[in-house]
Amino acid sequence: MNIAIIGTGYVGLPSGIGFAKLGHNVTCVDINKSKIHSLQNGILPIYENNIEQLFLEVVNENLTFTTSYSCINEADIVILAVGTPQSNNSEKADLKYIFEAINEICKNLRDKNKYFILATKSTVPVGTGDKIEQIVHKINPNIEVVSLPEFLREGYALEDFYNPDRVIIGSNSDKASKAIKELYSHIDSDKILITTRKSAELIKYASNSFLAMKIHFINEIADFCEKSGANIGDVALGIGLDSRIGNKFLNVGPGFGGSCFPKDTLAMLGMAKELGVGVSLIETTIKGNNDRFKKIANNIKDMLKDIDNPKIGILGLAFKNGTDDCRQSPAIEIIKEFIKNYQNINVYDPRAINNAKGILNDNVNYTNSIYECANECDLLVILTEWDEFKDIDFLKLKDCIKVKKIYDTRNIINFNEAKKYGFDVINIGVKN
Ligand code: UGA
Repeated sequence: MNIAIIGTGYVGLPSGIGFAKLGHNVTCVDINKSKIHSLQNGILPIYENNIEQLFLEVVNENLTFTTSYSCINEADIVILAVGTPQSNNSEKADLKYIFEAINEICKNLRDKNKYFILATKSTVPVGTGDKIEQIVHKINPNIEVVSLPEFLREGYALEDFYNPDRVIIGSNSDKASKAIKELYSHIDSDKILITTRKSAELIKYASNSFLAMKIHFINEIADFCEKSGANIGDVALGIGLDSRIGNKFLNVGPGFGGSCFPKDTLAMLGMAKELGVGVSLIETTIKGNNDRFKKIANNIKDMLKDIDNPKIGILGLAFKNGTDDCRQSPAIEIIKEFIKNYQNINVYDPRAINNAKGILNDNVNYTNSIYECANECDLLVILTEWDEFKDIDFLKLKDCIKVKKIYDTRNIINFNEAKKYGFDVINIGVKN
């Protein structure tokens, strides 16, 4: 099939690489000239696990990059994968990039009768597909507008692309659904669900809201453990063994972040308000998660209150492991909470330093390793769950002068091993 993908971000790019690797002819379009120039020259603008090798195999073969929308004229399927960030002045998603892309598609369409599918992978409010259809049908009534929500996780994008839990196709048209099913012929048919367009749009928001809620829930249970003396590791394990609950997304931490959960829960709240529907669980989740950043920052301040001009080492800046993405990263939000109070903050992240520099500027010292970061620190704080941090060499860490205390907000380091080397480890969800 000929596929045009609009948007080369964390969704469009891995999807483009994945479809190209399956043998489709894929053209990725983006208005960002320097990004397209890099991609044409074999340089990836994002970090993703295991993506580089696949990219190099298909780039400039059956995967090409352009800033021109004219490729839509050859496409059987045009996939919208542009960003839908949160609006500056409301909870709603900002659909500016969606409608700019639709406008370009309409402008560049040569054959006004050509049949093709316009599939929306971007996360869009319920009813957006109808609006898109109204606009494009004025130009060409043969375009089939489909909702094709994306569920891949950053850092695991290709893994999720090849082996998703499900593919949701939001369409009333048998012809369009059949074509999309063909596009996903590498997926078992029992994982493919065809719904109405609006239901597909809501499935995306409801899924992200539920997962965000699950994380917030376990973080609240962790707070309960800290006061009551129960242990969150045991409790999460015990809860997760119930197959109705499941063991995934029960990892405690400093709160959820990223470019999806925070904005999608807010957008869900915005949509619900507009419809006059109560979504109190989601509302509580949003507030609770924001409060959590402050709570963790206050815990850090508390741990340092008796030290003059303390030095802090922060391990982790990305919003989670496996990505260089710092958008709405809990680590960044927490650092912002205490940056005014301290002059000596070392930070380290295996992938996200460059992106963090654009946010934290020169308010922190960027370092190149765990041990450089930890050197002479009064407190070492783990904020992102990178594997590298799980494997800290405590003997080497011991040589870093002063470090005695580790605040592990992801509960990832080997507690007993750290204790053996004399470190005082403070975990989440354990009475310390
Ligand atoms: C999320 C969803 O998981 C994807 O299914 C969805 O496609 C994507 O949003 C999207 O809408 O595009 P992603 O934002 O990449 O994916 O990240 P997650 O792996 O879901 O993690 C989100 C946040 O929750 C991170 O800050 C992570 O550290 C945190 N988290 C996750 C926890 O604190 N505990 C957990 O158990 C799981």
